[in-house]
Amino acid sequence: MSAFVVLGAQWGDEGKGKMTDFLAEEANVVVRFQGGNNAGHTVEVGDKQYKLHLIPSGVLYEDKLNVIGNGVVLDPKAFFEEVGYLEDLGVKITPEKLIVSDRAQLIMPYHKLLDKLKEKARGKNDIGTTGKGIGPCYTDKAERSGIRVCDLMHKEVFKEKLQENIRLKNEIITKVYEEEPLNFDEIYNEYIAYGERLRPFVQDASVRVYDEIKNNSKVLFEGAQGMLLDIDYGTYPYVTSSNTIAGGASAGAGIGPTMITGAVGIAKAYTTRVGKGPFPTELEDATGEWIREKGKEFGVTTGRARRCGWLDLVILKTSARVSGLTSLVVTKIDTLAGLDKLKVCTGYKFEDKVIDYFPASLEDLAKCEPVYEEFDGWDDSVADARIYEELPENAKKYLKKIEEFTGVQIGIVSVGPRRDQTIVVHEI
Ligand code: GDP
Ligand code: IMO
Ligand code: MG
Repeated sequence: MSAFVVLGAQWGDEGKGKMTDFLAEEANVVVRFQGGNNAGHTVEVGDKQYKLHLIPSGVLYEDKLNVIGNGVVLDPKAFFEEVGYLEDLGVKITPEKLIVSDRAQLIMPYHKLLDKLKEKARGKNDIGTTGKGIGPCYTDKAERSGIRVCDLMHKEVFKEKLQENIRLKNEIITKVYEEEPLNFDEIYNEYIAYGERLRPFVQDASVRVYDEIKNNSKVLFEGAQGMLLDIDYGTYPYVTSSNTIAGGASAGAGIGPTMITGAVGIAKAYTTRVGKGPFPTELEDATGEWIREKGKEFGVTTGRARRCGWLDLVILKTSARVSGLTSLVVTKIDTLAGLDKLKVCTGYKFEDKVIDYFPASLEDLAKCEPVYEEFDGWDDSVADARIYEELPENAKKYLKKIEEFTGVQIGIVSVGPRRDQTIVVHEI
């Protein structure tokens, strides 16, 4: 049995897309289990670049099964746009290759509208969401008024649920936000058409993934976002609306935790975050700007500049704990090449002690002062390394520190965006 969760150990954009694609070579099935098209996963093969949002990163292979699990919030418009984008790039998408859970929640036009209206109403306290309707869709799921993919397969059921939702959402849109109401017929007709196109892809994905694992297929669960955007363990309320930690894979794919063999945490060699919220090791100076430019740190989904800072080992240790990481992948060490000195955060000075865990309260976090250890830098030759021994000594020291502090073995080091720019240190 082999079923590994591949997930972000920081604030997202760690290189999950690249690493899922890399690991998928040895796998049979890739499953998305949470989030939606707020994610932006980049995969580079040769000179081709693919930007994926909703479709799992195993899709570039002809022979892998890709699954959109029940925990995902699915915007059918975005889904078919992505299918079209991939087909234009020569990637064939068929129901043999891609399946969608009948239990996935649908992102509706009012979710996208309410996401934007709510952000605007928050004013300076906005979260900086991607505006894709993620939060409002998960809100309806928890509140039990959501519309699922299986509902769209039954016109009458869909009609009734949509009528009720439009009625209530229009009350909010017109009375709370003083905006124009949405039109039932337009949305109904648009979604019924999506439903017909979606039908061949729809299955009970939990049954399928279970059977695959039982039949000795190798399964990867591809996380979106990262540990600190988790609804429970992230920097609440500056988080996304799903469980991004490894435990989310079980609920979001309908697979018992006892069937999951390991969790691979993807960590960037430094730290980035898009959107608002605390960031203890943020560099709001020339070094931060230098990392942003060199690392091309601009969001795949929204194009926003990512905030950059030093590597924070408190975050990685917390990730190791809450996701039970069995292995780490460190990406983008090539980006740091050229810096004379590097800093790594090994604790937070909080009141009169030094802590090595991430506090719950943002007020406490604001009082935390990072404690740094300094490291000597390395040069650009790092990008040419293909085996661990070829890495510069100083880069090895940096990696050793990550392993020692987190207690998790580094399985892979990534030295560039392409599939082949990858060093396997230990079998995952
Ligand atoms: P994801 O959301 O975790 O899949 O990550 P993104 O795709 O949003 O952002 C990661 C970016 O870094 C993408 O542009 C990748 O192509 C790129 N990338 C991934 N690994 C490496 C690496 O080791 N070195 C460099 N220079 N770029 C990388
Ligand atoms: P991948 O999978 C980085 C951030 C947003 C915002 C917060 C809430 O590419 O790593 P949402 O639209 O989810 O309600 O926004 O979460 N966010 C991400 N940041 N990478 C992502 O995905 C993200 N998905 C959401 O910027 O701060
Ligand atoms: Mg991303």
